[in-house]
Amino acid sequence: MIDAKTKVYCLIGDPVEHSISPLIFNNVFKYLGLNSIYLAFHVKPENLESAINGFKAIGVKGFNVTIPYKVQITRMIDYLDAQAQLINAVNVVSNCNGVLRGYNTDGYGALKALKRFNAVINGKTVTLVGAGGASRAIAFTIAHENPEKIYIVNRTLARAEELAHSLKSRVNAKPCSFNELYAFKEADIIINCTSVGMYPNVNESPFDCSLLKDECIVMDIVYNPVETKLLREAKALGLKTIDGVSMLIYQAALAFRIWMNQDPPIDLMMATAYRALGVSSVS
Ligand code: ATR
Repeated sequence: MIDAKTKVYCLIGDPVEHSISPLIFNNVFKYLGLNSIYLAFHVKPENLESAINGFKAIGVKGFNVTIPYKVQITRMIDYLDAQAQLINAVNVVSNCNGVLRGYNTDGYGALKALKRFNAVINGKTVTLVGAGGASRAIAFTIAHENPEKIYIVNRTLARAEELAHSLKSRVNAKPCSFNELYAFKEADIIINCTSVGMYPNVNESPFDCSLLKDECIVMDIVYNPVETKLLREAKALGLKTIDGVSMLIYQAALAFRIWMNQDPPIDLMMATAYRALGVSSVS
């Protein structure tokens, strides 16, 4: 029951109406009997700073940040943890007595999703398609796992070059255009880190799966639809696929841990997400 002691958590972004995070978190709060609530706020760019100050003023305990504020918000946070600093983007904020701490749990979410499906990164070639915030988070996390190399394929080559450059001291990273087909042909793991294929553009796919080797694992960070055109084509070729729901849930699980100092029920979160997305089983 909501009362005067209820703790408030939320999501901010523009837009947020399609987010399933409120469903996921509120289900967990209910299951664990926590007197907390999670809301979604559509914040316009000109109101971002006032919203953050308002959260401080009224003691919102924590919030998630989504498109398009993950980078912008870093300037409004009091402390950034090491990973968020490296990535230069924040998707989770905790409010400790008016002091805001920013974290990035996207890379962790992607890594946990890969491990859930027994993907091995050590010694392998990983291709990331996209060079935006999500790709940066995943690249820095995967770099820790000793891949042989990381190819970063991006439409705007300069962004891929910049990301590859910032990874240079950690891993063998190479920027590529979509025409450099070896980035696809050599991949042991390939991850779509772009929004291509996301609802409503469900008939788009970021690349041609027939370029990939038979053993290649194909992961998509897009979770709506759960089965993107990319994953459908990969499955049709007999390739192993990982949908975007796992990453979504694992990044949310780490956010929950940061806020509550306890682990959430992952299976319940997965089931809530698949149900909300109209799917009854895992990929
Ligand atoms: P996010 O933080 O979610 O990663 P972003 O920083 O806007 O979002 O990055 C989006 C990524 O998707 C970029 O790599 C973008 O490519 P560009 O750098 O060339 O813009 C990629 N992207 C988006 N729409 C695309 C499309 N239609 N075709 C190819 N790449 C696309």
